Amino acid sequence: MKDISSFNNYPHYPVMLDEVIKICNPNKGGDFIDCTFGNGGYTNAILSFSRTKVISFDRDILTQKYASILKNNFKDRFKFYNEKFSNLDKVLEEDFKVDFVIFDLGLSTMQINDLERGFSFNAKGSIDMRMGKNSISAQDVLNNYDQKTLNKILKYFGDEKDSSRIASNIIKERKKSPILSVPKLVEIIKRSKKKNFKKKINISTQTFQALRIFVNKEISELINGLINATKFLKKGGKLIVISFHSLEDKIVKFYFSNYSKNKSRVSRYFPQENNEIIFFEDYKNKIIRPKEREIKKNNASRSAKLRVAIRSQDNFSYPTALKKRFSNYLKLENENV
Ligand SMILES: C[S@@+](CC[C@H](N)C(=O)[O-])C[C@H]1O[C@@H](n2cnc3c(N)ncnc32)[C@H](O)[C@@H]1O
Repeated sequence: MKDISSFNNYPHYPVMLDEVIKICNPNKGGDFIDCTFGNGGYTNAILSFSRTKVISFDRDILTQKYASILKNNFKDRFKFYNEKFSNLDKVLEEDFKVDFVIFDLGLSTMQINDLERGFSFNAKGSIDMRMGKNSISAQDVLNNYDQKTLNKILKYFGDEKDSSRIASNIIKERKKSPILSVPKLVEIIKRSKKKNFKKKINISTQTFQALRIFVNKEISELINGLINATKFLKKGGKLIVISFHSLEDKIVKFYFSNYSKNKSRVSRYFPQENNEIIFFEDYKNKIIRPKEREIKKNNASRSAKLRVAIRSQDNFSYPTALKKRFSNYLKLENENV
């Protein structure tokens, strides 16, 4: 198999690829949806098994060039859509079913290292943060949203303890001149943060994460993506999700356990909406983490958590409890100026 991570200047190492392959066993063949194509690491690996077919999605237009390389190699066994995974149901036929749906959330190395896009606090240019198919950029948020909403964005999506001081300094700064560049935002964060020398992560990490999640509506995307993926899985099909921060993992864990066979037994005495909806087999709350040797090779994999749920039947009713449980985040993501 040709390693397609080398097709660009910033190789993206597919996180926990061995584990994903072991779970899917593509040697036996199967139909796949790769919701986060990226540099095509998973898609390429799966297609290298001859009896597989993959439909891939990515919202970032720049991924299309890697998709064209795979199209040339694998012809009819591969299809690519430059589309958000929340729109799976707008693209695929209603009765279409697959054996596996995979999500590898977050950003690719290619996106982080493209300093023009402003995802990284090391970038020197403008602060944009759009993954693709967005309506707003980080600049729009920083220069137009009110202090209360900015504070909430940083607190909810970044778990940033100094959110209120950062939000207040953003407002003060933009009254002098618009906040357009990464270094300017980093400077505001530095001025706003209490010194905490024990902290291992960069002081800008949480603010950048929060803005990125908000700009790309990542929580709405994940929730709608999971719901849609469920519709397209056959009975016995596997839903595989790799997440990189605690809010994402909380959503995946809630979804898998709340709609599994064993959850409905546990909660028999606690009537709740959707109690009777079962999508998945018994869910054991097992998390798979990358091995030490992978983390050594690719430090970005250190926070990855992989969860798998197995479809128990191919029914579908709308799982309203999932949206209800995370409604405060969904409401915030939909807040306009
Ligand atoms: C971590 S990378 C995936 C890497 C890929 N597994 C590989 O091996 O090359 C995540 C990718 O998902 C894409 N993405 C994130 N959110 C998305 C969404 N809501 N819809 C479609 N693509 C999304 C990003 O643009 C990025 O390219």
